[in-house]
Amino acid sequence: MSPKRPKVGVTRRLPATVESALREKYEVVQAAEDHALTLDELASLLRSCEVVVPTVTDRIDARLLSAKDVKAKLLANFGVGTNHIDLDAAKSAGIAVTNTPDVLTEDTADLAITLMLAVMRRVGEGERLVRSGKWDGWTPTQMLGRRLSGKALGVVGLGRIGRAVATRAENGFGMKVLAWSRSKRRGSEAGTRIERVNRIDELMERSDVVSVHCPLVPTTRHLIGAPQFAKMRRTGVLINTARGPVVDEAALVAALEAGKLAGAGLDVYEEEPTVHPGLLSREDVVLLPHLGSATVETREAMGMRALANIDAHIAGRDLPDRVS
Ligand code: DGY
Repeated sequence: MSPKRPKVGVTRRLPATVESALREKYEVVQAAEDHALTLDELASLLRSCEVVVPTVTDRIDARLLSAKDVKAKLLANFGVGTNHIDLDAAKSAGIAVTNTPDVLTEDTADLAITLMLAVMRRVGEGERLVRSGKWDGWTPTQMLGRRLSGKALGVVGLGRIGRAVATRAENGFGMKVLAWSRSKRRGSEAGTRIERVNRIDELMERSDVVSVHCPLVPTTRHLIGAPQFAKMRRTGVLINTARGPVVDEAALVAALEAGKLAGAGLDVYEEEPTVHPGLLSREDVVLLPHLGSATVETREAMGMRALANIDAHIAGRDLPDRVS
């Protein structure tokens, strides 16, 4: 009889290569149909599996984690952001948490640049016009956007993704990059041309494009709201590929309506998959369905990184990507 394999509960369907790699080593517990799990379904995985692989669509709160019959000892999150997991409650329950950093940096940075270009060059609006069948040909004044090259970019949060966006902006588009982060160091960033600013308001005032790259933690919830929009240039553009609640969505809609900024490119929302109706009806915003890490290469790499953490846990080794 073959030895009993550890049970790994996987909350969503993952790329086929990742599922096969998991199944080679573990007894995978997974719903056949892909859907966001209910609380009862999550509780059942936590009760029956040594490891659970959650994603951003699973809200794993203190109530779930503190239940007496939880068996899970590792949450090997499929993704870098862990704001959907109550880390304190996991710690109290003796459950380790890991994530998948690095592997999604480049693709998420690419998507932030995609959104900048899409908003400034009115790509969504133009595509809608062509598809509507109402385009009646080229004119010298039709749908004029604004140039991205040479403008000032304000990066909010200078972690891996923020830096990757800054590199693209400087080297690809000749942009001047300003950065603000919670560590708040003023001056230039060693080895780069990035200028750190002390106050987020200064960043909002001096940037043509503001791109959000900080994690969602209590101090960054609604970090960008009405007071910050009031500081933006009227031609300014906001990009968010980080987490929806970092931006006060209702304040963004009000600021767009009042002409305090010229547009926004969003990949993330406060209450996904719900999008504020005031955004849905606007031509000056580009809206994507949380696609930052959505390439075959990255999603496979994320799965393999989660697997490496599971292997380390099962073998009793240090976890490569422990989240503290
Ligand atoms: C991440 O890795 O955090 C992505 O947003 C998907 O969850």
